[in-house]
Amino acid sequence: MVFEQTFIMIKPDGVQRGFIGKILSRFEEKGLKFLAMKLITIDDETARRHYEEHLGKPFYDGLVEYITSGPVLVAVLAGDEAISIVRKLVGATDPKDALCGTIRGDLAIDIGRNVIHASDSPASATREIELYFDEAEILRYSRIDEEWLYEA
Ligand SMILES: Nc1ncnc2c1ncn2[C@@H]1O[C@H](COP(=O)(O)OP(=O)(O)O)[C@@H](O)[C@H]1O
Ligand SMILES: [Mg+2]
Repeated sequence: MVFEQTFIMIKPDGVQRGFIGKILSRFEEKGLKFLAMKLITIDDETARRHYEEHLGKPFYDGLVEYITSGPVLVAVLAGDEAISIVRKLVGATDPKDALCGTIRGDLAIDIGRNVIHASDSPASATREIELYFDEAEILRYSRIDEEWLYEA
């Protein structure tokens, strides 16, 4: 089976609040496979490229400042329909609207401190994976539970 790939980032507040393990477990338990992962501090230029669709919005400068304010964990995940599954696990942008059981619904309150980013489309997944990872950093392997996770 050829899996879809998506990109996630545990934002600086998620790292500082000690949620790395908790957040990664949600994806792991769902059955999604990590193909790449690293802790980095994002520079200003990368942050501006990452969020270029929001250039000109009132929250843009604050968002760039937030995302560059400390270490983040970036990762590539794979699975059948991984992009939409991950967005559902992450929950609504504003944690006040995010359903309980989602990462943002359970772990955050403020839209400006919503602990995690996830790609919202195939185009953004490709763009964001390329922004943070070299091709050689993305591993290819089978997870031992795949034959139990998928019917065929
Ligand atoms: N009104 C806002 N005030 C402060 N920060 C915001 C606001 N809207 C969005 N953001 C920040 O910008 C990020 C990107 O926004 P958006 O792409 O709309 O959401 P998502 O992260 O769910 O894809 C959000 O995750 C959040 O950190
Ligand atoms: Mg977005």
